[in-house]
Formats: sequence, C-alpha cells, structure tokens
Amino acid sequence: MSEDAPIRVEGLRIAFGDRVVLDGLDLAVPRGKTFVLMGLSGTGKSVTLKSIAGFLEPAAGRAFVDGTEVDPRDRASLRKVRSGMGYVFQHAALLRWMTALENVALPLVENGVEPAEAQSRATRRLEALGLGEAIDRYPDEMSGGMAKRVGFARATVTGAKVILYDEPTTGLDPITTRTVDELIVRGREEDGVTSVVVSHDVESAVRIGDLIGLLYEGRIQVVAPPREFLRHTHPVVREFVRGFRPQESST
Ligand SMILES: Nc1ncnc2c1ncn2[C@@H]1O[C@H](COP(=O)(O)OP(=O)(O)O)[C@@H](O)[C@H]1O
Ligand SMILES: [Mg+2]
Repeated sequence: MSEDAPIRVEGLRIAFGDRVVLDGLDLAVPRGKTFVLMGLSGTGKSVTLKSIAGFLEPAAGRAFVDGTEVDPRDRASLRKVRSGMGYVFQHAALLRWMTALENVALPLVENGVEPAEAQSRATRRLEALGLGEAIDRYPDEMSGGMAKRVGFARATVTGAKVILYDEPTTGLDPITTRTVDELIVRGREEDGVTSVVVSHDVESAVRIGDLIGLLYEGRIQVVAPPREFLRHTHPVVREFVRGFRPQESST
C-alpha cells in the first residue's frame, strides 16, 4: 500500500450465480491520473465500476477509495466513499420526476449544502457545460446526448476528486464527444481528479488516458500508457486498434 492510489482494487471476484464475471481483478489508479478501461461488451467493465462504488457485493477481494475500504454492507463506509466520489452511469440514470437543475443539485444537497447554494452551484455547472437550456427540462424532454451531459454535470458538480465514468461519450456525436473528453482532461489538470473511464473508442482513450487497460476474462490483462497500448500484441487490443491512426499532434 505504499503507492498513492486513490482507486485501488485487489483480487476482486464477482459472480452472478454460476457466471463468474470478475476473477481476481487488480487495479490501482495513481493520484491525478485517468485510467481508461476498455474491453468487449459484457466483459464486466460496468460491474468493475459498480464494485468500486459499492453497489455490488464481491465474493472475494476488496476495493479502496482514498484509503477507505468499500464495504457494501456498511452504510457508514459507503457514505464516506460516495461523498468524495462522482459517478457517471452508463445510462444517464437521471431521476425522471426532477428537472435537470434538481438532478444536478441533488448530490450537493446530499452532501449537506443548503438548497439555495446547491441550486446556484448546479446552475453554474450546467451553464459551464453549455446546458443552460436544459435547466428546467425533465429527462423525458431531453435528447439522449443532453441527458448524458446532464448526468456528467451531476457527477462532477460536487468537485469530487475521484470520478467513475461509464461510457460518458457512447452515443454522442463527434463534437459533443470531444467536448466531454476535454472536460475529463480539464478535471484532471485543473482539479487533480483521479478517474476510471470506460470507453470503446480508441481515439478518445488515447486523447484522455494516462493509462489504458484491457479487461479480458475477468482480469485487467494489459495496462500501458497510450502509445504502448496501441502497439500491444494482445489480439483484443489489435482488434480495438485496427484502423486507428494516431495523430502526431496529440499525445
Ligand atoms: N445484476 C446483474 N445480475 C446478473 N448478471 C449481471 C448483472 N450485472 C451484470 N451482469 C452480467 O455480467 C456481465 C458483465 O456485465 P457488464 O459489466 O455490464 O458488461 P460491460 O463490460 O459491457 O459493461 C454480463 O454478462 C452481464 O449480463
Ligand atoms: Mg457497461
């Protein structure tokens, strides 16, 4: 435990009935770094994030966030872990009976911020993300991309230093994707955020990742900085990388 890794997972095993999804998964994300998690559909990327946030009970192994063990059976542990963490769910997961503003203010209110202050901070966050027009809309009145960006606003509004992003750009157009990627990079550079980002998109991964990992058969089998990842011989890595040409100006 000498290395400073605000997100740490050791020997995690998660099974649903007979189906073992994670089988001894290890992960350590150093402070202030962005770890991009790639992998084929159904390999357990979302399950990995849910375990770090304490939504799933492991059959074995442990996760730590900022040194606190994530224990799904211990409400105090979960409260501590989640108060310092933001989570962008794969499907925006906004509360349907609340407006964008109320959704984004919610984590602040849960952290004890006064309602008026929470509303003004939520407004500022939405406006900073170009979502001024969404403020009074309910999720049913938003496009998929807008809902996703509101979910992003909600995950980042508290200034959390640990953020888990589950496919934050899947389904977005290329321009909005770039905007969200830039926000992830800014969170790291300006606020020192430590994060795990699940992505299918090599171009995004290279743009935002300090490290890229491949989840395969229950474990993270490759971990490398972007340039090395692109050259890795693992067949699934080759499949992801096929057709991708790195631009010399980036990374
Ligand atoms: N709550 C659950 N109950 C049963 N099976 C689940 C549950 N959550 C995920 N799974 C299964 O675990 C596997 C990994 O799921 P997931 O982490 O969502 O994959 P992905 O890598 O695409 O995010 C899938 O086979 C999925 O069906
Ligand atoms: Mg998923």
